[in-house]
Amino acid sequence: MELMDAIRMRKSYRKTFKPTPVPEADLKEILEAAVAAPSGCNTQTTRFIAVSDPELAHKLASIYNKPWALTAPAAILLLSKETPSYHGNSYHLQDYSAAAQNILLAVTDKGYGTAWIEGQIEGEKAEQMGGLLGVPEDLTVVIYMPLGIPEEEATGVQKMPMEERAWLNGYGKTF
Ligand SMILES: Cc1cc2nc3c(=O)[nH]c(=O)nc-3n(C[C@H](O)[C@H](O)[C@H](O)COP(=O)(O)O)c2cc1C
Repeated sequence: MELMDAIRMRKSYRKTFKPTPVPEADLKEILEAAVAAPSGCNTQTTRFIAVSDPELAHKLASIYNKPWALTAPAAILLLSKETPSYHGNSYHLQDYSAAAQNILLAVTDKGYGTAWIEGQIEGEKAEQMGGLLGVPEDLTVVIYMPLGIPEEEATGVQKMPMEERAWLNGYGKTF
């Protein structure tokens, strides 16, 4: 798939998945996209776990506790921690966000569906997921992505018109 096609096609998927397992080779390539992402001062603060075992994916989905996610045969988790770079700032939020977007595009490219689940797992659920996966205490599960082949069309959300958000050669100057 062309990169711009993946960018245009990507949508959060929160519906039923087919039970077909996601091959390890696909998960590996998706995580290759993740580790290729930029990071502040190249600190590479994000860690990743791919889950190919449908039983384990189901356990994670039970913690998240949404019916659509329970059908996901696989999952990807992003782990992060605050890590000051050489001048003191921590760019860990930006780092894992950049990696997450690379993952979403690679997932779209391969014909899978997923959603960036962050706000809904923050705190106790993230801790439980980390415990289940043996994540060291200094790292936090920051994003959970249930993953699989979509059984339905993604709904998609309304985006603001480009001319209200993006301009050429100055604020408010339309393309
Ligand atoms: C920082 C961040 C946190 C998010 N957390 C959640 C979440 O907890 N649950 C969820 O269903 N979607 C979550 N999303 C997905 C957004 O709801 C979604 O990207 C947005 O509605 C736009 O839809 P689209 O992804 O189809 O373009 C999150 C996205 C971002 C960037």
